[in-house]
Amino acid sequence: MDIVLSGIRSTGNLHLGNYYGALQNFIKMQEENKCFFFIADLHSLTTHPDPAMLHENVKNVLVNYLAAGIDPEKSVIYVQSDVPEISELYLYLNMHVYMGELAKTVSFKEKARKQPENVNAGLLTYPTLMAADIMIHNADKVPVGKDQEQHLEMTRRFARRFNNFYNVEYFKEPVAYNFGQELIKIPGLDGSGKMGKSEGNCIYLADSPKEIEKKVKRALTDSGPTEPNSVKPDYIENLFTIMRVVSTDEVIAHYEEKWNACEMRYGDMKKQLATDIIAVTSPIRERIIVLENDTEYLRKVAREGAEQARESASKTIRDVREIMGFKGF
Ligand code: TYM
Repeated sequence: MDIVLSGIRSTGNLHLGNYYGALQNFIKMQEENKCFFFIADLHSLTTHPDPAMLHENVKNVLVNYLAAGIDPEKSVIYVQSDVPEISELYLYLNMHVYMGELAKTVSFKEKARKQPENVNAGLLTYPTLMAADIMIHNADKVPVGKDQEQHLEMTRRFARRFNNFYNVEYFKEPVAYNFGQELIKIPGLDGSGKMGKSEGNCIYLADSPKEIEKKVKRALTDSGPTEPNSVKPDYIENLFTIMRVVSTDEVIAHYEEKWNACEMRYGDMKKQLATDIIAVTSPIRERIIVLENDTEYLRKVAREGAEQARESASKTIRDVREIMGFKGF
């Protein structure tokens, strides 16, 4: 049985990118794997969130996770900060991680550009914390979107380095995982790159059908192709990319055909796309509405999840301390 670990930063509700990048397939595979789904609240500290909002955002992710179909009877769901062993492993790993390699990370350079007034050390060592998240359970597979590929590569490198340095075969080298094998990038509907919270272009699992229709309607289009079988501009390809994850093969083939024959009617395509997105999100949204008021249940899930996660994490920490040479008197 493989160990699977999936994490999402606690910066608010989940969007379609999170769902298809990190969740959906493993919700289906909870029976076949030992799955851990966690809420990365320590990672969210790099942007200095308002303490008044921190808990609310953790709660949002927990509710979204459960509503999306993660079953706490089958999988372990926990909040990162409830498992102090992760922070301990982060400290140990940092001793074997170098300034130069961290400073070169794409996500670090991007963040440093976005928040030049707050280039903190947590931002620099973000990949170490992410490696600690994964290595604390010695995970085999990590479902992630395309944007996390480099972090996964670094995790493998850190695991290998630890094993080599201490001359052990302790940590596995985890692989990024998504169905279709290629990692997914769900684009925004605004013609820009990926769908993301900081890009402000998200369709959230909690959005109402009306909001979704409005967002899809606003998506950037043009007057349609004039040459048969022409290459789609990025902002049109984006619509098709989302369609490929939410719609049936027939629907996709139909609009591909219309595109190739220069008979595109974007109004129809958008209506269909909105309907198909709503078919995915509606049942999730209905469960969100019920779950967000069930404080008792959420507390139970978080408490039991933390207990199970700590059981696995404390075993790793015991082993790592021994490997590194810590001994009691
Ligand atoms: P975060 O919170 O930005 O995103 C959570 C997960 O969703 C995926 N994702 C996407 N996938 C496809 N298309 C998109 N537009 C899109 N937007 C987001 C991300 O790839 C990610 O899998 N550092 C991580 C959180 C994290 C983590 C971990 C993940 C911390 N520790 C350990 C896995 C394992 C992050 O910021 O993801």
